[in-house]
Amino acid sequence: MPASTTSTKMKVSFYGHARQYHNIKREIDDAFHAVMESEAYVMGPALARFEKELAQYFGMKHAVGLNSGTDALWLAFFALGIQPGDEVITTANTFFATAEAIWIAGGKAVFVDSDPVTNNIDSTKIEPAITPRTVGIVPVHLYGHCADMKAVSAIAKKHKLWVVEDNAQSIEAHGDGFKQGELSDAVCISFIIQKNLGTFGDGGALITNRPDIELAVRRMRNHGSSPRRSPRRIPQRQAETHLQVDRSAPHLGQALHRRPQRQQLPPSHGITRLPARLPSLRHRTSQARPSHPVPRRSWH
Ligand SMILES: Cc1ncc(COP(=O)(O)O)c(C=O)c1O
Repeated sequence: MPASTTSTKMKVSFYGHARQYHNIKREIDDAFHAVMESEAYVMGPALARFEKELAQYFGMKHAVGLNSGTDALWLAFFALGIQPGDEVITTANTFFATAEAIWIAGGKAVFVDSDPVTNNIDSTKIEPAITPRTVGIVPVHLYGHCADMKAVSAIAKKHKLWVVEDNAQSIEAHGDGFKQGELSDAVCISFIIQKNLGTFGDGGALITNRPDIELAVRRMRNHGSSPRRSPRRIPQRQAETHLQVDRSAPHLGQALHRRPQRQQLPPSHGITRLPARLPSLRHRTSQARPSHPVPRRSWH
């Protein structure tokens, strides 16, 4: 066989999270055991601590831990008072959970095209899609870089619409002169395994400066009630789902600390940056890298 046709087989695992776990095993194991021994498995102190750290990381007032990014989205829509048949404008170029969440909340997803350069929502297409039934806009920060929130926010203000950022893919990214959450009513995050800040399972959060949204979402995650009585009394299936929230929280909190602090990030300077400590990911990321300058994108 000629040398040019020989190949070496290499097994590449889909997630590679076992390797990540082994790198920080001690921290993860200690945190996991602390939660297990505490018997506070659902919405306990570990989650409260993580919510505080997450809100600080974003420079926002409130963060609410949830089961997934999808839950964060539809709970945000409910908190904003969506009614059956209300229209919500979003980008056609997104993971289907964005539209699915609008549908779960009883709304109708109205798709507008994406910008061929940024791959994010084309803000020039939003106004023509507004009808008397439109209540909100959901820009998606896709592939680790922010949508044009200044344009989206200006349109929303003009037409009195709410804005919810789908930030499942871009925690750590910066916009051009704005921070995530600054120009919207709420930001929704996913912590599912493969995300920028991924946990060992499912997870999500909603971040907001609006106390009414925070309160509504906190209540909805707890069957409409504010205080939690006994974690042991909730049905087993639900307990299993929620258990992840507290089990994941210590790990996510530690991962958050290992990321560069937002305050230390360079100010908007109009060039594409990739985290230098992820060289092996550059190839993959470059496929989705926009050809236009972005202030700061994150890996996704
Ligand atoms: C753009 C986008 N929105 C929403 C979601 C939903 O997040 P989750 O899987 O945590 O429900 C995802 C990822 O899965 C996503 O990529």
